[in-house]
Amino acid sequence: MENNKLQRDSFGSKFGIIAAAAGSAIGLGNIWKFPYITGVYGGSAFIIVYLLCIAGIGLPIMLSEFLIGRRAQANAVGAFKKQAPGTPWFLTGTLGLAAAVIILSFYGVVAGWTLDYVFRAITNQFANMAPAQLGDMFGGFITSPVRPIVWQVVFMLLTLGVVLGGVKDGIEKYSKILMPFLLGIIVILNIRALTLPGASEGISFLFKPDFSKLSAAAVLSALGHAFFSLSLGMGTMITYGSYISKKENLGKTALQVTIADTVIALLAGLAIFPAVFAFGIEPSAGPGLVFITLPNVFNQMPGGYIFSILFFVLLAVAALTSSVSILEVVVAYFAEEKGVSRKAAAIWSTVAITILGAFESLTNGTVNFKLPFLKSGEILSLGFFDWMIELSDMMLPLGGLFIALFVGYKMLRKDVEDEVTNSGAFKVGYVSAFLFAVKVIAPILIAIVFFNNLFGFLK
Ligand code: PHE
Repeated sequence: MENNKLQRDSFGSKFGIIAAAAGSAIGLGNIWKFPYITGVYGGSAFIIVYLLCIAGIGLPIMLSEFLIGRRAQANAVGAFKKQAPGTPWFLTGTLGLAAAVIILSFYGVVAGWTLDYVFRAITNQFANMAPAQLGDMFGGFITSPVRPIVWQVVFMLLTLGVVLGGVKDGIEKYSKILMPFLLGIIVILNIRALTLPGASEGISFLFKPDFSKLSAAAVLSALGHAFFSLSLGMGTMITYGSYISKKENLGKTALQVTIADTVIALLAGLAIFPAVFAFGIEPSAGPGLVFITLPNVFNQMPGGYIFSILFFVLLAVAALTSSVSILEVVVAYFAEEKGVSRKAAAIWSTVAITILGAFESLTNGTVNFKLPFLKSGEILSLGFFDWMIELSDMMLPLGGLFIALFVGYKMLRKDVEDEVTNSGAFKVGYVSAFLFAVKVIAPILIAIVFFNNLFGFLK
């Protein structure tokens, strides 16, 4: 690196690429959100639709992002400027940048909650609390003015620390340590959950489909969540793709990352629902599922103290490798397009995003801030905070739509082929199917979801 300062930083190894990209994908989306929406939408039938969205739309869009990024060797905005100069395509990157700021602002808040719960787990605060008290504790905590912000700041500083290390010596290095650690914890939690008496009810909730429970809302939510969970639609995988060496097989990498993300979501479900059913608790608790329901489960479970610590550490670790990838989108943009040093870009974007997030956190309780023309949110039914979450639920599919159209209609087929075969170094059999997915399947389905969300969003 020293003798060539102009060369872009990049990932150093195959495992490093998978760890970083899977680290981005595997996050609060898998361990906090996937289980609770699965619970809300009734279990297995929802999971089947989700898996179809992942395979039919998520995977092709992940490959699209990787190939756009690697071909251009540039950040989310620069990648479009380079490949379609003088056209408005770069706005896809700009939209992604805005989504990154919004998502990281609330992500940092929820990740802060997980740190608070690590602390509460270690200090054994859940013990002897009745379910109602656990609910009050969570509600009281997230609506209080100072404490959630303190943890949010701590979490954002951790994120900043990793990004300041750079791509290879920061993001890749920590992902390589944290992802195997995460896998280890989740496997331990699975063993515990699956050996509880009565675990089988939870397993059939996850895997025995009951399509009568499937609603239109469930289908829409499954597609939206596929984007969020795979970190798609905002240029994260374009940015990470730009750090992947020309020797790697992009299709294979996209497949591996998609499988890793899906397996971890399912394992999170397998860690949570058998335990929830074993203790006779309703699975449809919503966003409070892991913060209220699970501590209640841990209280009744042999070894619950240790498992509660492991669980919340798992959440925090998963959140960190994701937040890092979101910050990197913003940092790479300012460093490459605006000529700011990486260090300054990282510090100032962290400061700005943390301030926005702190304000959102305040709107959970202390500050009453509601935009008059918008419905109040359904996530926590509180206001600006959930509003931001819903906004991002729209921005990601919209970004994904433009990414699919770009690869399907703007790029030449021969350039796409060139990129997925490393200029003909090996053959792939999926180009036509891939192009069909990005030209037809993804745009149609995303358009349906997008308009549905838009109309649900305005009053
Ligand atoms: N995929 C991450 C998760 O599941 C969140 C994320 C979304 C990260 C968008 C980057 C971009 O938690």
